[in-house]
Amino acid sequence: MFESDPHKQLNPLLPGYSFNLYLVAGMTPIIENGPLDFFIDRPGGMEGYIVNMTVRGQGKVFDGQDAFQVNPGDLLLFSPETPHYYGRDPGSPDWYHRWVYFRPRAYWANWLSWPYQTRKVGRLSVGTGTLFKEFEDLFVQIDQTHRQDKYTAEELAINLLERLLIRCYEEIPDNEPTQVDARILATCQFIAKNLALDIGLDDIARHISLSPSRLAHLFREQMGVNILRWREDQRIILAKHLLQNTHTPVAHVAGKVGYDDQLYFSRVFRKRVGLSPRDFRKSAIEHHPLLEEGLASEAASDNLPSFSDKLTAR
Ligand code: FCB
Repeated sequence: MFESDPHKQLNPLLPGYSFNLYLVAGMTPIIENGPLDFFIDRPGGMEGYIVNMTVRGQGKVFDGQDAFQVNPGDLLLFSPETPHYYGRDPGSPDWYHRWVYFRPRAYWANWLSWPYQTRKVGRLSVGTGTLFKEFEDLFVQIDQTHRQDKYTAEELAINLLERLLIRCYEEIPDNEPTQVDARILATCQFIAKNLALDIGLDDIARHISLSPSRLAHLFREQMGVNILRWREDQRIILAKHLLQNTHTPVAHVAGKVGYDDQLYFSRVFRKRVGLSPRDFRKSAIEHHPLLEEGLASEAASDNLPSFSDKLTAR
């Protein structure tokens, strides 16, 4: 079903893993002199976000003036393009941390804006009391759920991740999380509503009454990712949904998410998801044969709640 490349690194705990998925979760148990006892070093950041939680021992993040220690109950949020540099604190015999790598949905923006930061890494502590268990359990559930062998595994894991992010948002001290700029939220809504249209940065900027360069800058600053890249993510999320839950032919799926050229759509999809749209649909059906019978027809699929509906509902 999935192509296997013998040179592909299949262990996310080791350098070289591709992370071309929408959600990956795990636990990294670093023990002094053990095989994982090295500093994770990604100077250019990653394409998605990472939220992690220290569950045992101490970790060290960054070097020099910006260096800080993390202890059990500490959570960190790395946005795309934030450099990753962390490992076991040399003074601690071990450092165990749980983590979730993800590409966010459009309406998550406010939950991803943690106010207390060091070099753009959001920081939050839930301590080692009752909250510790609640948060650790959520990480465990996300990890277990996304590994389940059923076609809804990723969606369910994303659902739990939403809960984790909302709980983090609630626990931000003083209950004063920074809000994403209203113009950027409006931009997200506008893009999500118009995923099928071939609109450029200029059109989006005009709609928001900002210059294209100002919008591009502000978007990257607030969302940690390039605006067109962000739109591509939303398009692929919707395409996956349509391929998995409807009979809409691939060419129409391409059109519904803004690609007139099916070949180009397939290329982008494969690059992002690791499978062609056709193979992705096939693998969803293999995982869940009943799905084929229950797949919505194209007409019905037009009535599915869209991601933009969810966004505007907030
Ligand atoms: C693993 C790291 C973990 C996280 C994931 C994405 O190798 O141990 O902290 O960065 O990669």
